[in-house]
Amino acid sequence: MKEKISSTCNDQTHKTVQGRAMIELGPVEDGSSHIEELMELTAQCLSRLEIKEHFNVIKEIGRGKYGRVLLVTHRCRGTPMALKVLPKASTQLKGFLREYCISLRLSSHPCIVGLFGIAFQSNEHYGFAQELVVGRDLFAIIKPRVGISESVVKRCAVQIASALEFIHRLGLVHRDIKPENILLLDTQCRHVKLADFGLTQKRGTLICYISSTLPYMAPELCAMVAEDGQEKPQAPPLSIQPSLDTWAFGVLLFCILTGFFPWEHCTSTDSFYEEFAEWRQDTETTEIPTQWKRFTPACLEMFGKLLALEPNDRSTADVVKGYVGKEWVKPKRPNESEGVNAMATLSSPCRSSPVLQ
Ligand SMILES: Nc1ncnc2c1ncn2[C@@H]1O[C@H](COP(=O)(O)OP(=O)(O)OP(=O)(O)O)[C@@H](O)[C@H]1O
Ligand SMILES: [Mg+2]
Repeated sequence: MKEKISSTCNDQTHKTVQGRAMIELGPVEDGSSHIEELMELTAQCLSRLEIKEHFNVIKEIGRGKYGRVLLVTHRCRGTPMALKVLPKASTQLKGFLREYCISLRLSSHPCIVGLFGIAFQSNEHYGFAQELVVGRDLFAIIKPRVGISESVVKRCAVQIASALEFIHRLGLVHRDIKPENILLLDTQCRHVKLADFGLTQKRGTLICYISSTLPYMAPELCAMVAEDGQEKPQAPPLSIQPSLDTWAFGVLLFCILTGFFPWEHCTSTDSFYEEFAEWRQDTETTEIPTQWKRFTPACLEMFGKLLALEPNDRSTADVVKGYVGKEWVKPKRPNESEGVNAMATLSSPCRSSPVLQ
């Protein structure tokens, strides 16, 4: 395996440290080109093993659109791990290699899930071993129609912002920011970790269309949905940018502060989104939509930066750091209805998975 690594690496990209081959991942600003090299290297030495021969499977701890996550212990060492397994029948080797190598590249950040450097294929699955995050995910602690307390949200927000800053600095875009992909080490969100790099791509990658929308998707992404009976949308290909994550982060903050989605999707057929868009286009004369009235002016200013309609006007995710010292939610006055009638037609967050092309 070492020989293969050495023979594939050029002089700049591998060093020998105390006799061991080491892949140098290069300067942070150019992380994405090294991912491709790492993918090639991993493909060359992907172990073939059967899960049960090497791991004791204890139980399934998570399931998403693409794969399952199993709590296992390593048969020789007893180490507990979270094994992400993706069925070969519905997973392309290239997609699996990309998810594994990007996860590995990012795993050094304290707010990103750690990896063990174990990737394999069995007869039926591709898989890799992740650090076991023992708490639940952020979705599990959202109280429907109530949300999570402001102080806990703020703790969570600064950590996600820091993880996003790291990812974006490497020229990558997560593309699947949602509460289900934020793992908790404790229920008070003192330490959270961003996971699931299955959709992560290099900034600038072009998207031609998407087959369905999620509430976390930015308006420019929702415009890429192919209408019924249409093969492709009217819109030209969309270049993937960090501003997609910023928008999703803004929606996530709304969801966890309120226990509601702000809208179902950012298209003209969604009246909640339309009302929001009208307000953002003319905040001077348009009334604040009911579901946004619970926030303080400072918090609305922050949302305005995260959820700028025009992607180029959106701030970077770390803008939230400047707002954590301010109040976000107005204190509730006795007998205040909080616009519950209007809110009632908004849905509470439910587990979701995007289907992207
Ligand atoms: N390292 C981990 N430790 C503990 N639980 C985890 C870990 N990784 C994932 N999970 C749980 O498993 C669920 C599914 O994992 P993941 O998001 O990686 O799968 P996916 O199929 O890519 O999901 P999606 O539908 O979001 O694309 C997560 O929402 C989380 O609850
Ligand atoms: Mg997921």
